[in-house]
Amino acid sequence: MKLELKSPANERIGIHIPDEVANLSLPFNGSFATTDGDEYRVKNNIIDMLEQDPEFASIALSTNHWKVTAAIYEELWRKRSLSLLTGEDFPIEKEHELLIDWTAPQEGGLYLDLGASTALYARALKAAQPKADIVALDFSTQMLEEARIKAEADETDIFLLRADGRDMPFFSKTFDGIVMGGTLNELSDPTKVLYEANRVLKKEGSFFVMHLIKSDAWYGRLLQDSMGLGGIKFWTKDESNDLFKQAGFRVDKQITRGIVCFSRLLPN
Ligand SMILES: C[S@@+](CC[C@H](N)C(=O)[O-])C[C@H]1O[C@@H](n2cnc3c(N)ncnc32)[C@H](O)[C@@H]1O
Repeated sequence: MKLELKSPANERIGIHIPDEVANLSLPFNGSFATTDGDEYRVKNNIIDMLEQDPEFASIALSTNHWKVTAAIYEELWRKRSLSLLTGEDFPIEKEHELLIDWTAPQEGGLYLDLGASTALYARALKAAQPKADIVALDFSTQMLEEARIKAEADETDIFLLRADGRDMPFFSKTFDGIVMGGTLNELSDPTKVLYEANRVLKKEGSFFVMHLIKSDAWYGRLLQDSMGLGGIKFWTKDESNDLFKQAGFRVDKQITRGIVCFSRLLPN
């Protein structure tokens, strides 16, 4: 038994999630009750720690809860996006290489894909280290359902967890590594989520973040300003690093290509 969740209702109570829940070739439905009597449902292997849908602070966030966005997101946008945004040939394999190189998932380790959407990073980590356990967390059921389809097709066993990154149902220092691709720009409260990431990361763990920074070009700024109206935020590299610092991280490695920034953060 590898995954232990913290009860949202009582922070002293743990909920043990059996390994079978991560075995996506066998549908798992049921519920887990805490010793306090709180119950959390598991539907089709997706552990639901949220009783209701979160309130959407932006258009960008609400579209992630549409089935159609979840279905087309990875094929139509995600796999091509970095070549478009970096202005160079940047295939998804190159991003995965960096992710694995900087995260170095270990046998027996536990890793979190934070704001996972269709669990692209979670699946890449599991493929690189089949003996690690991976949790893909998102607050969109639609995205997690799509993640389930993709992970099952890849024969990748991962835990799928519906929870809010602003208040994660994990005890402090749970994870050996956290990865977060493209999510920072979409968060309604990035400081809170980064702070939570710092809390649940082990002292010797690392945090891989891919996010978009402010464009230098006037036309890029114009586009980013209009995206700001939909709730997407952009910072300069220095502003991003201030944000990381405020949440208790230091930058260990960082690469920027066009407006795409990859960081390896370590807790202070
Ligand atoms: C840009 S997408 C992530 C893309 C994905 N990580 C990848 O590499 O393809 C952002 C995701 O973060 C999720 N999200 C945004 N705010 C969240 C929060 N507070 N808690 C959990 N998930 C959140 C959204 O539902 C969405 O699926």
